[in-house]
Amino acid sequence: MLLIKNIKKLVQVEENPCRWIAGKNMAQLNCIDNAFLLVDDGKIVDFGKSKDLNIKTVDVDKITVVDAVERMVFPSFCDSHTHLVYAGSREIEYIDKIRGLSYAEIAKRGGGILNSAKLLHNTDEDELLEQSLKRINEIASYGTGAVEIKSGYGLSTEDEIKMLKVIKRLQKMTSLTIKSTFLGAHAVPQQYIGKREKYIDLIINEMIPQIADEKLADFIDVFCDKGFFTVEETKKILIAGAKYGLQAKIHANELAASGGIQIGVECGALSVDHLECTGDDEINCLLGSKTMPTLLPGAAFFLGMNYPPARKMIEAGLPVALASDYNPGSSPSGDMKFILSLACIKLKMLPEEAINATTINSAYAMNLSETHGNIARGKTANIFITKPVPTCEFLPYAYTTKLVDTVILNGEIIKFTVD
Ligand code: NIG
Ligand code: FE
Repeated sequence: MLLIKNIKKLVQVEENPCRWIAGKNMAQLNCIDNAFLLVDDGKIVDFGKSKDLNIKTVDVDKITVVDAVERMVFPSFCDSHTHLVYAGSREIEYIDKIRGLSYAEIAKRGGGILNSAKLLHNTDEDELLEQSLKRINEIASYGTGAVEIKSGYGLSTEDEIKMLKVIKRLQKMTSLTIKSTFLGAHAVPQQYIGKREKYIDLIINEMIPQIADEKLADFIDVFCDKGFFTVEETKKILIAGAKYGLQAKIHANELAASGGIQIGVECGALSVDHLECTGDDEINCLLGSKTMPTLLPGAAFFLGMNYPPARKMIEAGLPVALASDYNPGSSPSGDMKFILSLACIKLKMLPEEAINATTINSAYAMNLSETHGNIARGKTANIFITKPVPTCEFLPYAYTTKLVDTVILNGEIIKFTVD
């Protein structure tokens, strides 16, 4: 049993279970000042005002006590969209970008996703695991407690399965909660250019059945955008995935108003992600649906592209989730605290809205809102203690200061080794 006492502010406590927070409610953050938090068997069992802590009810000898000495406790970030299993890095393209080439132009020249596919093909599973584990430990130290990871740099049955097996091994090796997404339709591989329907057949008839059979993925994703996969192709792939129980989470409307949002909603996607090119039609389509609009401001920041209209979405009554998109091409960072800052500075979200978007709403976007995303009795004890901070708003404000002090996952204090 773990007791955290003298908490200056216990942030985002939930009394009544909710799946997500939408519209104007996103600006509300339930907090308790001068609080305690009690954890047992990896779960949050109780919390409240320090003065209401009745320590006699528990066996004092069996408790590890952490004195927060006036620091705050937050629920861990939930990062519902990453590609953090990848080989090597792509800083050469970064230079091309600085010189003025666009993301689409780099992709057309065989750079981009296809470049990562080549690097991944030439990296064995153990090496890929080692590289990815470093990124997992890095994001855990930044306060992330649950993460979704996609395949999509394999683009052949063998290499897609290699990626998904690495994700499975990561699940067993780390304390973070990990969800896995099959993204075979990330790009058409070189050898299928000019016969893309053959690649789609391969995804549908070979990859999906095998991946489902080996239980290697929770979700299915398609990069539904201009120059990648069309709405019709996306629908075909999502229907095939649904037959095998893979719920959709798709990349949509990053490069153009591609119809991706509409097809995502039609196919019952859990989330539609990116959404830089979103207008009224798309917002109306999302209203009343169960699909979480997920924004990835790290990608727009890194690529120097337009940001999605977060304010418009929230003011229309939608929920919004935020994720890092950690990947080698468009967002080589999994720092969710920086995502909070970008959301405030670039998307004009209030700190409270951004905190809700990186926790409970992003937990929903990976089907984890029953167990993660806020401080609630019975939920997984994935939390972090901050360094001394004056307010919660200080987190996004101090945008490069390391403010996560102690990370607790499944009720255990995590010790990080520096390499
Ligand atoms: O989410 N948009 C598609 N996929 C990734 C980028 C992948 C890459 O460039 O390697 C993204 O931004
Ligand atoms: Fe992505």
